[in-house]
Amino acid sequence: MTTSPLEMLSGAEISRASAAVRTDSRFPADATFVHIVLHEPDKADLVQGTAVRAAEVQLVDGPGLGVIEVVVSLDDDSIISWDAIDGVRPTLLFGEAMHAIFTTKEHPEYIAALARRGITDVDNVQIDPWPAGVFGYDAETDRRIARCISFLRTDPLDNGYARPIEGLIVHFDLGRNEVIEVIDHGVVTMPEQHARYFASDNEPLRTDLKPIHITQPDGPSFTVDGNLIRWQKWALRITFDPYEGLVLHQVTYTDGGRERSILHRASISEMVVPYGDPGEQQGWKNAFDAGEWGLGRMTQSLTLGCDCLGEIHYFDAVLASEKGEPQVIENAICLHEEDAGIGWKHVDLFGGTHEVRRSRRLVVSFISTVGNYEYGFFWYFYLDGNIQLEVKLTGIVSPMAIEPGTNPEFATVVAPGVAAANHQHLFSARLDFDVDGSVNEVHEVETETLPAGPDNPWKNAFRVKDTRLDTELDARRDTNAATSRAWKIVNPNVTNALGQPTAYKLTPMMSTPTLLAHPDSSVGKRAGFAQHNLWVTPYRAEERRAAGNYPNQHEGGDGLPRWTAADRSLVDTDVVVWYTFGLTHIVRPEDWPVTPVEYTGFLLRPFGFFDRNPALDVPPSAPGACHEGP
Ligand code: CO
Repeated sequence: MTTSPLEMLSGAEISRASAAVRTDSRFPADATFVHIVLHEPDKADLVQGTAVRAAEVQLVDGPGLGVIEVVVSLDDDSIISWDAIDGVRPTLLFGEAMHAIFTTKEHPEYIAALARRGITDVDNVQIDPWPAGVFGYDAETDRRIARCISFLRTDPLDNGYARPIEGLIVHFDLGRNEVIEVIDHGVVTMPEQHARYFASDNEPLRTDLKPIHITQPDGPSFTVDGNLIRWQKWALRITFDPYEGLVLHQVTYTDGGRERSILHRASISEMVVPYGDPGEQQGWKNAFDAGEWGLGRMTQSLTLGCDCLGEIHYFDAVLASEKGEPQVIENAICLHEEDAGIGWKHVDLFGGTHEVRRSRRLVVSFISTVGNYEYGFFWYFYLDGNIQLEVKLTGIVSPMAIEPGTNPEFATVVAPGVAAANHQHLFSARLDFDVDGSVNEVHEVETETLPAGPDNPWKNAFRVKDTRLDTELDARRDTNAATSRAWKIVNPNVTNALGQPTAYKLTPMMSTPTLLAHPDSSVGKRAGFAQHNLWVTPYRAEERRAAGNYPNQHEGGDGLPRWTAADRSLVDTDVVVWYTFGLTHIVRPEDWPVTPVEYTGFLLRPFGFFDRNPALDVPPSAPGACHEGP
């Protein structure tokens, strides 16, 4: 077992950090633990071997604004720092959200609003507390609130999203556990159809699917030592964060005996789901599922044979409960390898030989259930040096009830009397590249055509336009599929055997939108990171989350827009690349009642990092029919 400063926090370490905070005289008696996470060492300390093992503890005390941020040494359990931060709100807390559900159900105005809809069975009402955003309601001021929306189940296992209780919104004070306001925009007819997705509700089931078995009789090709994973020429460490979920550290590829660095750290730093319907019931919906709920906190255990196939290694995630106790999510992270089709192939028509090599990839994944939606995050490492992040979106769209026969302008009808609003899912990947070392540059590369003329007599010429992005404002960029625009992360001081600077290329895998809401809208200000696909910053340890550390009910402007406004230099320094990607979801009838997986993501490809195809040494598959050369 290695003892890297980047090992995940153990349950015992969480207990020690919690105890150290509790026994400090400054600890407020009723404080809630928002999180206890690994205090990641600064890069310089990691390199110099001077990293201190420590935990970060966030507390919230009382119903108002403000949090307490504590750093606890895990070497001697001492308090390294204790800071009260005013005017900010933590992520939504599970305990308070549960209170919101039960307290709302007992409120006479809420019960009366249900009665106006003929609903008397309050037990089968499903209440979803939503992050509130910032919309100028009095209820938002100086409070930590949720907006609660409701659905009706016919029994406890029913899919409540079949029956939105339209027009009814409750503003709930989470800190004080009280209903502030019951808002009723008017009754809409309750949809009648079920939206059940159990096998027993969808018979007859297909009977002609024959089994597929994935077997690895000699075991997998990877090894695991603590949180260090080695597979083929790759090595990486993983940790698990309440907000970002899976975090990759120190991703390297061993090439000719040299362990070469590629990424120092990679994660999803934030995401936002803004809805495009301007109505009273939908217009305020814009969930920051990393910062407001937490992709790690909402992670569920994975099941062998269902979520991953093959020879699986699971990692548990150890987070902290709101009482400061260790809380284990068993089998939170899945590690496995899988066949990935052909890696390369050629048939020599003259020589009569054919050569094929299979592609294979190492998969590190987790799946977060954020209320109605599921997000699966799958990092792939390939034999040829490619790294890919694939996000799989599934679960249930957030629906609304409509009067039967009406045709909503900003939503798709998915069932009689049910529609789902246009929305986006926009993710911010924070990619701290260290391509052959920490000093890297970012270049925008795209094609440009030439005017017709003596240098282009057949009007066919196109070439690469390469622009180094020198400052932060220059580096706010958007994708352009027409010019194959991509970004190279270049080490200007290291060259390959051809004399070219070594690089990795961030390649959009498909057209990816930016935020459609106006920049000066509430969500436009709060999700500034989503206004551009690319941002680049000089490395700062504290710049970790694209919308800032406290996005819940934050008025906006924090994170990438604020940092990059300084227009710092990106030359001769350690750079961090932030990539906004995702999709605009115009809901289909086929997305109901549960959405077939939809994909988004990006690819990181070596570009002159190697001297030639690095997968030439992949052996032909047994039994030898895949090659005929000598
Ligand atoms: Co969607």
